[in-house]
Amino acid sequence: MLGRERIEYKRPEQVLLMRRAGLVVADALAAVRAAVRPGVRTAELDEVAAEVIRAAGAVPSFLGYHGYPRTLCTSVGAEVVHGIPGERVLEPGDVLSVDCGAVVEGWHGDAAFSVLVGDAGAHDAADAALVETTRRAMWEGIAALGRGLAAGDRLGVVGDAVEGCAQRAAAAGAPPLAVVEGYVGHGIGTAMHQAPEVLNHRSRSRGPKLRPGLCVAVEPMLSRGSAETDVLEDGWTVVTADGSRAAHWEHTVALGERGVWVLTAADGGAAELAERGVQVAPLG
Ligand code: MF3
Ligand code: CO
Repeated sequence: MLGRERIEYKRPEQVLLMRRAGLVVADALAAVRAAVRPGVRTAELDEVAAEVIRAAGAVPSFLGYHGYPRTLCTSVGAEVVHGIPGERVLEPGDVLSVDCGAVVEGWHGDAAFSVLVGDAGAHDAADAALVETTRRAMWEGIAALGRGLAAGDRLGVVGDAVEGCAQRAAAAGAPPLAVVEGYVGHGIGTAMHQAPEVLNHRSRSRGPKLRPGLCVAVEPMLSRGSAETDVLEDGWTVVTADGSRAAHWEHTVALGERGVWVLTAADGGAAELAERGVQVAPLG
């Protein structure tokens, strides 16, 4: 398992190549986000992303991965992750998650966002809370990496932060959300999935010590109901066991000498991390 594999710590020049991949992913996801509206087929979103990646001279990383047939994962409603773009037509109020990966000169970037389709009038308030709390859980996890790096802590701070974020939202009166079980973030670099695993829940196993050169994808998945999942007959699409809606956000993050750098965020994570008292330190 990933837990036993060696971690590939990156040198600054390697992180710079990952930043190039990260920005391609950021551009592709921004183009997809702009194309999301009722009536669009998820296959059309896939074409938008594929064109951005191709035009940048990069390579989509999901296409052909263990036989995966598309550039994006598009997961709608009760689909958590790994939904395959196709003929499904987006409807007002759908919860859509879009996941994208790209490779530049052998180095990977991986990111995802969730969004509600159509005008705000068509959105369910609890679905909006699901999407927003999952987004904040991701940023809390990334901020915890920054603080944990400075404090000499371990990777387990991510799961503490993600689970804590979901619990605080419920304690503040929002409908309860479950951290999806069985799927985790991961190390990333010369492959999309590397050691170490990045847990989204609190665990007694604290993981490796945070240190410069560690690059990980932080990707919380939250559900409005069950934390358990099933895989559909297509062999890919992960759905919540009870059919409740789920959201997924992801960024690729590099740890440097002086702090974190969010490689798949256009601003490197500066705005969101400043709100959380964490400085972004490109290649620091
Ligand atoms: N981006 C997903 C992850 O973070 C992987 C997509 S699976 C694929 O783990 F097969 F579509 F590539
Ligand atoms: Co990932």
